[in-house]
Amino acid sequence: MLSIRNEVLREGKLSLDECRWPSDDIPGTFHLGYYIDDRLACIASFHPQSYGEFQGVGYQLRGMATIQEARGQGLGNKLLNFGLTYLRGKGANYLWCNARKTARKFYSDMGFETISEEFEVPIIGPHYVMYIKLK
Ligand SMILES: CC(C)(COP(=O)(O)OP(=O)(O)OC[C@H]1O[C@@H](n2cnc3c(N)ncnc32)[C@H](O)[C@@H]1OP(=O)(O)O)[C@@H](O)C(=O)NCCC(=O)NCCS
Repeated sequence: MLSIRNEVLREGKLSLDECRWPSDDIPGTFHLGYYIDDRLACIASFHPQSYGEFQGVGYQLRGMATIQEARGQGLGNKLLNFGLTYLRGKGANYLWCNARKTARKFYSDMGFETISEEFEVPIIGPHYVMYIKLK
């Protein structure tokens, strides 16, 4: 998982340890992975985190990434849908993420709405906050 975060999300510029986030190990966090044969191809991490004034139980999605050679085959869609179903089962009210502008269509195709102006994340580029209501 850490090496995919590094290669896909940080252009391979970090050490694996720098690809760990404090939210990775907090209670309620879960990580999903999609394997092709024995190779991890797509990852996503979810941790309890409310957004702004939103009411109810919120989760944040981080580290959504598919290895280059496996993109466009529906892996991201399947993995995220699994996460959404699991979160509904846990009674969560919504899921949100800081979505890269380049991934905005991926998330909006999955039912996410844009809830912020465009903002810049240093080094990485333009983002939007996106959100999907779960119940
Ligand atoms: C965003 C990302 C995670 C999507 O993962 P993915 O596995 O390629 O996602 P999917 O295959 O489910 O969907 C991507 C596209 O493939 C299309 N697709 C879905 N199922 C498909 C299938 N069976 N066959 C062909 N294409 C398919 C989707 O319609 C979608 O089309 P689009 O490019 O017009 O949006 C991936 O592109 C990625 O890792 N990008 C770089 C990192 C990044 O930006 N992560 C998000 C950070 S916020």
